[in-house]
Amino acid sequence: MLEHLDRLPPDPILGLMAAYRTDDDARKIDLGVGVYRDDQGSTPIMRAVRAAELAVLERQTTKTYVAPAGNPAFNDAMRRLAFGAHSALGESDRVCAVQAPGGCGALRLGAELIRAAVPDATVYVSTPTWANHVPLLSGCGLKLERYPYYDPTTGGVAFEAMMRALEKLPPRSVILLHASCHNPTGADLEAAQWGELLGLMQRRALLPFIDMAYQGLGDGIDADAEGLRLLCAALPEALIAVSCSKNFGLYRERVGCLIALNQNAAAAGATLTQLTCIARGLYSMPPDHGAAIVAEILGSDTQHAAWRSELDEMRARIARLRVAATRALAEACPDEDFSHIQRQRGMFSYLGISPQIVQRLRERHHVYMTEDSRVNIAGLRLQNIPYFAAAVAAALRQ
Ligand code: LMR
Repeated sequence: MLEHLDRLPPDPILGLMAAYRTDDDARKIDLGVGVYRDDQGSTPIMRAVRAAELAVLERQTTKTYVAPAGNPAFNDAMRRLAFGAHSALGESDRVCAVQAPGGCGALRLGAELIRAAVPDATVYVSTPTWANHVPLLSGCGLKLERYPYYDPTTGGVAFEAMMRALEKLPPRSVILLHASCHNPTGADLEAAQWGELLGLMQRRALLPFIDMAYQGLGDGIDADAEGLRLLCAALPEALIAVSCSKNFGLYRERVGCLIALNQNAAAAGATLTQLTCIARGLYSMPPDHGAAIVAEILGSDTQHAAWRSELDEMRARIARLRVAATRALAEACPDEDFSHIQRQRGMFSYLGISPQIVQRLRERHHVYMTEDSRVNIAGLRLQNIPYFAAAVAAALRQ
């Protein structure tokens, strides 16, 4: 039976990670997968995470099952982090939350929930969007369409085109939005634009499905959730997929949460039963360890503050790298404009170069990035930025 299966090409992001590992050139630079790195090029376990992990292990007395909805303390903490410590939504009975295996798991739970509610629903994703949004959302049978988002001429959001497209959508369309640190472009909506978007969503009765995978890595924990909070304070319904991979550095532990804002408490109760039933059918229960660590950190003011200050350091480092990379590229490539890199937020930016040049950078200069020229800024180091800029200049000339 299995002999008829076709061999599939490698995943565009994970395939690059594997190729990088087999490259033994000392100058190699991995700007592919979205993983934070420090000035030594490693992805250390955050100090707050290590301390919480030891406390969790010390206290843990059993490995018995938790529940399909996961750890309640974690889910409550995720709600407060998303909506803000003083928001009524943090405690509201209109909201339910379910722990998920990573942000990916949360996205898939949300997609399955939409499919259960409206089987022929269409989800609209930005052009471009994170490559894995496509299989995650359409894999359960939802239709996927696109709306314009990135303007390569400005390096910002093509806001008018986006609004024009969304204005035409039928009611009950689902709009996948990135809360901040847009993946892959680094181009985010401004506060006033979130306000205009809210008006449109109210007028057209659209449902926001918000992917928040980089909270704290753009402008800060609260600033990165501002648009999401504006929408959720005013709309009757919303779905939020949260990931703790990047801001807690818990990548391999698979920690995420699906938060659903409902019209009322009865609807929230029903949604929760749907979500736990979907979880049970997909993976039964989420892994516990990473969520227990996050609950431990966010459950203590001291540990919470320690984690935030580490996250602040990471964000500041990315900002420094953005400035340094923009400057180095301006010097190495005086005929090109890479100034958008400094203006953008989060881990990613597009270089805006062709797939051929991307390939040249990989094969001749050992600089790895996805084919669309997305670079993980956090993968740079101040020491290798001159090499990176010289490699880009050489690849553009060759
Ligand atoms: C990325 O965009 O590189 C990350 O979110 C990792 C992944 O799973 O694709």
